[in-house]
Amino acid sequence: MAQDLAGRVVVVTGASRGIGRRTAERLGAEKARLAVVARTADALDTLVAKLRADGVECEAFPADVTDPAARTKLVADVVRRFGGIDVLINSAGTASFAEFTDSTPEILRTVTEVNFFASVEMIRVTHPELLRSSLKGRKDGSGWRAAVVNVASTCGRVGVPSMSEHCGSKHAITGFSEAIRLEFAQFDIDVLLVHPSLVKTDDPAKHYIQHVGKVALDFAGAVSPEYVAERVVGALLSRRRETPVGRDAWWACFGKRAWPRYIRWLMRRKVRRFAERHAAAGSS
Ligand SMILES: NC(=O)c1ccc[n+]([C@@H]2O[C@H](COP(=O)([O-])OP(=O)(O)OC[C@H]3O[C@@H](n4cnc5c(N)ncnc54)[C@H](OP(=O)(O)O)[C@@H]3O)[C@@H](O)[C@H]2O)c1
Repeated sequence: MAQDLAGRVVVVTGASRGIGRRTAERLGAEKARLAVVARTADALDTLVAKLRADGVECEAFPADVTDPAARTKLVADVVRRFGGIDVLINSAGTASFAEFTDSTPEILRTVTEVNFFASVEMIRVTHPELLRSSLKGRKDGSGWRAAVVNVASTCGRVGVPSMSEHCGSKHAITGFSEAIRLEFAQFDIDVLLVHPSLVKTDDPAKHYIQHVGKVALDFAGAVSPEYVAERVVGALLSRRRETPVGRDAWWACFGKRAWPRYIRWLMRRKVRRFAERHAAAGSS
């Protein structure tokens, strides 16, 4: 059943830039009431000012989502301000672009902490509010269902060289989402996955923990954050369970199931070619 987001309280993490910020802007057009979250307070303030100028009800909640105390306070503050939570969008994320052998245990932990544990724990702390929201929808006969959207990645469906830590964390959130989707069905809470391909975000090289991967990222074929935001909101409105965004994501989600050997061959060829080019550059 299609869901109307007007008046619904939506928490968007990772809203200071990139996909999260564009998603908040797009939700403003749906007349959702927005709680925007990230660590960079001034970037959130700029977003809030812009949205309010457009008549959107919006509040900034600066927080580090990897901090348990900050998460608990965040939910309490949002509930005090808006009276409840109807939707959680986990878009906060980080990445390291490097071969596994060039990385460190600390980087692996940081990537997993933000992309997996923080998203999961955000679901844990918001769950009572999401439950209340769905119960209200059941009682008033509106058919409203609360929802969680996890912005995963193509890396959540297929192995991508130079992104092994990212792949680990995104496969984890993908599997976790599929499991709780079944558990949460009894509460009328939908759990949705969005898998973007490579995205032309504000400054990817600046925001990656490391940027030394050998398999070059092809930003020419990347999708825009606005397009991803459109698909995130589209998934929420239609309650589409899994939304690949971009050609690579479609291949990772669906093509891989139909032609697994072909996809493996393509990926191996890509890595081999980059390794050959790397070796040639090193010997010249
Ligand atoms: N960009 C891509 O190519 C791509 C492709 C597929 C999937 N994705 C996924 O899409 C999501 C958004 O990516 P993006 O491209 O928009 O990345 P981005 O531009 O680097 O933005 C990441 C956002 O997460 C926030 N964040 C990071 N760590 C945080 C923490 N500990 N606590 C609170 N907020 C935190 C950042 O805000 P602060 O720094 O202000 O805290 C920022 O708002 C991520 O989950 C990413 O893995 C991205």
